[in-house]
Amino acid sequence: MQEKIEALLKEINETVVESAEALEAYQRRFTNKKGLINDLFAEFRTVPGDVKRVVGRPLNELKKRAYDRLQEFQQQAKRATQSADRPHDLTLPGDPHVAGARHPLSIVQNKIISVFERIGFTVAEGPEVEDDWHNFGALNFPDNHPARDMQDTFFVEREPDHLLRTHTSSVQVRVMENNDPPIRVLSPGRVYRNEAISARAHCFFHQVEGLVIDKDVSFADMKQALQYFAIQMFGKKAKIKLRPSYFPFTEISAEMDVWWGLETQDDYRMTKGSGWVEIMGCGMVDPNVLANCGIDPDVYSGYAFGMGVERIAQLLYRVPDLRLYSQNDLRFLKQFAKMGG
Ligand code: PHE
Repeated sequence: MQEKIEALLKEINETVVESAEALEAYQRRFTNKKGLINDLFAEFRTVPGDVKRVVGRPLNELKKRAYDRLQEFQQQAKRATQSADRPHDLTLPGDPHVAGARHPLSIVQNKIISVFERIGFTVAEGPEVEDDWHNFGALNFPDNHPARDMQDTFFVEREPDHLLRTHTSSVQVRVMENNDPPIRVLSPGRVYRNEAISARAHCFFHQVEGLVIDKDVSFADMKQALQYFAIQMFGKKAKIKLRPSYFPFTEISAEMDVWWGLETQDDYRMTKGSGWVEIMGCGMVDPNVLANCGIDPDVYSGYAFGMGVERIAQLLYRVPDLRLYSQNDLRFLKQFAKMGG
């Protein structure tokens, strides 16, 4: 009896039903009153108790399987007749086509670029895996100078001269090496620093840096361009403040703050109680850097600035945690769908 059960199970599993006739035949053979399953149950009633104990369960399983298959075939047949009745319903709405949205960092990066484009900047891009010269050397970081510690660098293990760029100033070096002034260029892109990941720091982030080189470029020119940027970005009432700072590649160097306000507790937290937030580093390009890149510092001068896109986005959209930008949580990303960019 066990063999019969096994054989039937195999047959049922292998049966394919593709027509109304085949469905009828399946029922006739297996599940009808006079079908093989019922026959087996009749036989079951006649066998001795010890056999019953062995074959009872497989027999019940066989029955269940036979009826499950029947149901499958019936549904299949129903679907087939339905679609045969209405082969093409042209009044049905189409499949929804959900348009994607730009990432908030792309929106903000594009905004920054479009502000500077209006005052004559163009965009230059460069490699993320850089050599030491373009990321550090040309930018007046002497070998083994502690200034290199300002930016915790990821080095390429097998090529000690190569690293993941720590800022997009590396692109500015490439532009200066390959172009004669006047230069008026933005370098947006991803940069890397070896920092522990937290709400306020990440091992990669995005920058937009700017570079202007021409005859008689002054600190006042820089201040005017940056003030224009702040107003375009944060509104007519935006105020800026330049504080003295240090970068190896600029002399004199400054950091720029924008006035944020001190009305809410959040403002206190954001600005550490000062009302100002720092948004970028800037300064006059160090004459050594110009010379390193083949530009005569006695003829030309220039300014440079660099800002973090995440920081600007945080100010515009109040994003509380840097990690949100790279977690790809659709609930976060969808909020930006209507903001264009
Ligand atoms: N490269 C600097 C940084 O990544 C920013 C900067 C750019 C500062 C240009 C001054 C001038 O921190």
